[in-house]
Amino acid sequence: MTNSLFLGIETSCDETSVALLRGNVVEYEALYSQVVEHQDFGGVVPNIAAGAHLRVLPIMVQKMRDQVSLQNIDGIAVTCGPGLVGGLLVGLMMAKGLAISLKKPLWGIHHLEAHALMPRMTEDISFPYLLLLLSGGHCLLSVVKGVGKYHILGHTKDDAMGECLDKIARELGEEYPGGPAIEKLAHNGQVMKNILPIPLRGDKTCDFSFSGLKTAAIQWIHREKASHAAQELPPQCKADFCATVQDVMMKSVMTRVENALSYVAHVYPQCESVVMSGGVASNAYFRKTLQDTVERYGKKWHVPPPQYCTDNGVMIAWAGYEQWRCGVAPSLHISARPVWSLEAL
Ligand code: KG4
Ligand code: ZN
Repeated sequence: MTNSLFLGIETSCDETSVALLRGNVVEYEALYSQVVEHQDFGGVVPNIAAGAHLRVLPIMVQKMRDQVSLQNIDGIAVTCGPGLVGGLLVGLMMAKGLAISLKKPLWGIHHLEAHALMPRMTEDISFPYLLLLLSGGHCLLSVVKGVGKYHILGHTKDDAMGECLDKIARELGEEYPGGPAIEKLAHNGQVMKNILPIPLRGDKTCDFSFSGLKTAAIQWIHREKASHAAQELPPQCKADFCATVQDVMMKSVMTRVENALSYVAHVYPQCESVVMSGGVASNAYFRKTLQDTVERYGKKWHVPPPQYCTDNGVMIAWAGYEQWRCGVAPSLHISARPVWSLEAL
């Protein structure tokens, strides 16, 4: 690990974040989560997100510069996409301004690649490894063959897992983001049998699908509210339902991971590790359940600490460092790419 110093900037969705990374040690980090801005809407509103990034990022960067010098940095990394175009542009303009004024090289980062490489910051994980990425906007299984080298095994055919959790939580009257709310409620709940379908049960692919489960869950909530003649479900019923949602989701994800592990055993026999990343990966129940499955298959299990599963500037700085280390050329001529597949890297 070298002593290189990288600045990372993340603005692709509803987190504004900057970080300074020396080797794999975080020297400075700041993060603003736009929960308050989006709470009344039950999801991220793109133009509100862009406005919040525009308001927060310059102040955040100024505060950082008051505390740490950027004169000796080796490079700047900024998220180019995929994500919401307004926020991406705010981050890119700031990063380009800093790169030009400080005369430093700039790397444009694929947001999902940053999630994918993040576990390598704190643990010794060699390529190739199997990646399970579960976030608010994406859901995929991929073999990570190297920096910029991905073999996608499957992805969601409709909703992402985080999106599904957010919509179900909203129907339960919980605040955005829904994933943490459902996790908390599920702690006191007992799984109810046969009330929700297990997505893609028996399917042998590595794809995901959550929209059917989302619809079934919302219908169940409507029926229960009607039967209690109430706007809200009774607390224990809510807790049991949340435990059930997590249970069926995990059963589905587990079969996807098992399908991927069987494929990997034949095609990438040298693959030793499974990495989970993305916002949903901060859920303690999902982490424990999947770890048990993966270890049963004799693979090593890695997941970043919960605060580095959700969006953050540290993972962007780390992805910049990874690019620099393997010789990817920097460029000032990068632009926002709201839609950008990992395979296109
Ligand atoms: O990776 P991320 O921060 O942003 C995207 O790139 O999408 O993921 C955000 C998603 C949200 O849908 C949120 O509800 C979910 O991650 N999430 C969780 C938890 N914390 C965040 N889902 C389940 N359990 C959690 N503890
Ligand atoms: Zn993300």
